[in-house]
Amino acid sequence: MTDYVLIQAQLAALIEGEPDRVANLANAAALLKSEVPDLNWAGFYFVGPPRVGGPQELVLGPFQGLPACIRLPFNQGVCGTAWARNQSVVVTDVHAFEGHIACDSASESEIVVPLRSREGTVVGVLDLDSPTKARFGEADRLGLEAFCRTLEAIL
Ligand code: SME
Repeated sequence: MTDYVLIQAQLAALIEGEPDRVANLANAAALLKSEVPDLNWAGFYFVGPPRVGGPQELVLGPFQGLPACIRLPFNQGVCGTAWARNQSVVVTDVHAFEGHIACDSASESEIVVPLRSREGTVVGVLDLDSPTKARFGEADRLGLEAFCRTLEAIL
């Protein structure tokens, strides 16, 4: 079992007194990758500036793992679905998720949690991938949602 209470305390200690967003998100990704067992990728995407004439997309942020897809569309893949629904998405088998966007062929299951502004709009997502099927359950969802609530305070 992952100790999300301990991870939450470690996150609070890491971000305390540090206003730099990229530094805090980089440490948050490193913390998750080191403390949550059985991950091959942990990181962030943020709703970023669109390419000229294009739609809004999620753009790659700080992460740990293999180099990943830079831009993800709204309402497609696991991240775009969490963005569109404004709710966490837990995928037990990525190969059975229609529209899954494969960045690392090692990924078998995935959880994506939205990050919100004070007004409740999705500003980004936290994405964790595992090489094990059905790796993420209810305890992970609750722990990671609490982790995101803490991070939202410094975005
Ligand atoms: N699998 C994600 C894309 C991001 S990578 O997993 C890092 C998706 O379907 O949105």
